[in-house]
Amino acid sequence: MKILVINGPNLNMLGIREPEIYGRVTLLDIEKELIEYSKNFKDVELEFYQSNIEGEIVSKIQNSMDKDGIIINPAAYTHTSIAILDALKAVKIPTVEVHLTNVNSRDSFRQKSYTIEGCIGQVSGFKKDSYKMALFGLYNYINE
Ligand code: DQA
Repeated sequence: MKILVINGPNLNMLGIREPEIYGRVTLLDIEKELIEYSKNFKDVELEFYQSNIEGEIVSKIQNSMDKDGIIINPAAYTHTSIAILDALKAVKIPTVEVHLTNVNSRDSFRQKSYTIEGCIGQVSGFKKDSYKMALFGLYNYINE
């Protein structure tokens, strides 16, 4: 099972970026932990991608037709990007949206997700564990 993990803008700054909100964990730490966690499942192959550029994320989604599932943290694009939503709808690959923080209890502009409409579900607020919970749910969804 091929799973693409996409991280959007400023998530490459984790560890440095607003540690009081996002903690000290780096994106590399998250990716390493997810690789370890994925060993609990049969035949899971992870690919990681990070970009600060909306169009690059759109192209990556378009070029992922060989993938069985996507885990995406669109970061700030969650709240603005109809282009990423349209790309997810175009490829129809089962996708889970993740957030480190609980976007529903933060600023009002973070409470609206454009991208969720192209996803099977959302995991929000469990810091790095959001990614693991997303993999668990996505794996079972694809296998059903
Ligand atoms: C985030 C939440 C977004 O609102 C924010 O713009 C981010 C990170 C999260 O993982 O909590 O960059 O997606």
